[in-house]
Amino acid sequence: MSEKTHFGYQQVDESQKSEKVAEVFHSVAKKYDIMNDVMSMGIHRVWKQFTFATARIQKGDKVLDIAGGTGDLARGWLKRVGETGEVWLTDINSSMLSVGRDRLLNEGNVIPVAVCDAEKLPFPDNYFDLVSVAFGLRNMTHKDIALKEMYRVLKPGGQLLVLEFSKIYEPLSKPYDFYSFNFLPKFGQLIANDADSYQYLVESIRMHPDQETLKQMMLDAGFDRVDYNNLTAGVAALHKGNKF
Ligand SMILES: C[S@@+](CC[C@H](N)C(=O)[O-])C[C@H]1O[C@@H](n2cnc3c(N)ncnc32)[C@H](O)[C@@H]1O
Repeated sequence: MSEKTHFGYQQVDESQKSEKVAEVFHSVAKKYDIMNDVMSMGIHRVWKQFTFATARIQKGDKVLDIAGGTGDLARGWLKRVGETGEVWLTDINSSMLSVGRDRLLNEGNVIPVAVCDAEKLPFPDNYFDLVSVAFGLRNMTHKDIALKEMYRVLKPGGQLLVLEFSKIYEPLSKPYDFYSFNFLPKFGQLIANDADSYQYLVESIRMHPDQETLKQMMLDAGFDRVDYNNLTAGVAALHKGNKF
C-alpha cells in the first residue's frame, strides 16, 4: 500500500500529491503575482527584500532558485551577481515558469530556466554558492529529500535560504485564521476564478512544519549553523543553513 501524505487538510496517496499541487499552480499561474500582492497587502515584497539583504552573495556567484515560479527571487539575485554570475530559475510547473521566463525576457534578462523537481535536481554536486526556495518547500511531497538535494548541489561554504509561511505568534492566531479562511478563498474566486487553490494555500500553511521543526529538518539534511528570522510575527520565516 502506498504511503499517505497531506494535501492541505486532505489525506492523499503520496503519489497523488504532486499532481494535485501541479493543478493548483497551472490554474493560478497567470494571476499568481497579483494575488500575492492582494493577499499579503504587498508584504511578501518586504519578506523577499529581507531575503536579499540576508543572503551571503557576491558578484560572480552561481545561484539556484528552486520552486522559483514567476521569478521574484531570481530577478533579485541577478542584480546581485552581475554579469559574471549565473542564476537559474527552476520550478516543477511549466505554467509558473513560463510566466517567470516571459517576465524576465520582457525586462531584457535572458537566464537559464529549467523545469525540474526539487527532489531530483539535475545539477552536479557542489556547484552553487547560494540556493533559495521561497514558498515552495511547503508544496513538496518529500521535504527531507528536497533539502538533501539542496545540500548536495551547494558548494562547501554555500548557503541555503528557505523563505516560507510559518507559525504565527500565538496571540495573533485567531484574527489571522479568521482573515485567512474567510477572505483568501474569496479573493481567489474573484481574481483567479479559483477558490479551491486558495483554500489549499490556507490549509497547507497550517500543515507546514513550524520554525523549530524546519530548523531540525535542515540540520538533519546536513546543514550547519541553521538559524531563522521570524517575519511579520511569524506569518513567514526565513531559515538560513550553511554547508561547510
Ligand atoms: C507559492 S509558489 C512560489 C513561487 C515563488 N518562489 C515566489 O516566491 O513567488 C510555489 C511554487 O513551488 C513549485 N513547486 C511545488 N512542488 C515543487 C517541487 N517538487 N519541485 C520544484 N518546484 C515545486 C510550484 O510549482 C510553484 O511554482
